[in-house]
Amino acid sequence: DRMEEKLEQLSKAGIGGVMLFGIPDHKDELGSGAYAQDGIVQQGFRKAKELFPDLYMIGDVCMCEYTSHGHCGVLCGHDVDNDKTLELLQKTALSQVQAGADMVAHSDMMDGRVGEILDKNGYINTPIMAYSAKFASAFYGPFRDAAESAPAFGDRKTYQMDYHNRREALKEVDQDVLEGADIVMVKPAMAYGDLIREVKDMTDIPVAAYSVSGEYSMVKTTAAAGFIDETSIMCEMAVSAFRAGTDIYITYFAEELAKCMDEGRIG
Ligand code: PBG
Ligand code: ZN
Repeated sequence: DRMEEKLEQLSKAGIGGVMLFGIPDHKDELGSGAYAQDGIVQQGFRKAKELFPDLYMIGDVCMCEYTSHGHCGVLCGHDVDNDKTLELLQKTALSQVQAGADMVAHSDMMDGRVGEILDKNGYINTPIMAYSAKFASAFYGPFRDAAESAPAFGDRKTYQMDYHNRREALKEVDQDVLEGADIVMVKPAMAYGDLIREVKDMTDIPVAAYSVSGEYSMVKTTAAAGFIDETSIMCEMAVSAFRAGTDIYITYFAEELAKCMDEGRIG
C-alpha cells in the first residue's frame, strides 16, 4: 500500500531498476499466488507501470514466498521436484511480464529454468537475469523473516549451492548462459567477491551481484549500536563489488548509495 511513495523516491534518486517481491495473503502447497493474474506482484507491476512508465521493473521468479512449506518449488515427498516446478516458474515469469515487468530474474535455482520460460510465448525481447551462482546462505535470514518464507522443514541445500564449492558456481553460470540468460548473478555479494571476479572473467554478458538482506541488516544494526559508520561501510561494500567486476549491484541501500554518488563521495 506504500509502493507509490517508495517508487517515487527511487525514481527521483535516479535508480536504474527496481525489483518487486511479493507476500501473498494466502500461501498454499503449489504457491499459486506466484502466478495468479491478480497476484500481489502482478498488481504491483500494473500499478507501477501506470504511475512510473519509465522506471525499469524487474520480477523475482520463485515460489518460496508463496508456498505454505516455504520451499522454492513443488514438493514430491520431502524433496523439491525440479521438472514439475519448471512449469509453475514459467507461468510465474509469464504472468509478471504480462503485468508489465521489463525483466525477469530467476532465483529458484532449478535446473533448466532459464530456457523454459519466455521465448516460446513470444516474449523474445524480455531480458532474463539468472541468479546463477546462488549459495545456500545464512545471509538471507532477514529476508526470510520478512517474507515468512523460511522452509518449514529441511533446507535449500538440494538446489542452492554449497559455499565451499567454487567450481560448481562456475558450472551453474555456464549452464544458465547456454540456456539463454542475458545477465548472470552472484549472490550474496559480500564474502563472494572472488566469484564475482571469476564469473566476470569467464563471460561476456553482464554480471550482477546481489547484496542481500543479512549484509544490509548487519550494517544497519551495527551502525545503530555505534560501532561503525553506516555510510562509509555502505560505500566501501558497494565499491568492492564493482571492483570485483560486477556490472549491476542489487542492494537495499540503492537510494542512499545514489545520494553518495551524486555528492561525489564515491565514483
Ligand atoms: C527467493 C529469494 C530470496 C532472496 C531473493 N530471492 C530468498 C531465499 O533464497 O531464501 C534473498 C534476498 C535477501 O536475503 O536479501 N528465492
Ligand atoms: Zn525461493
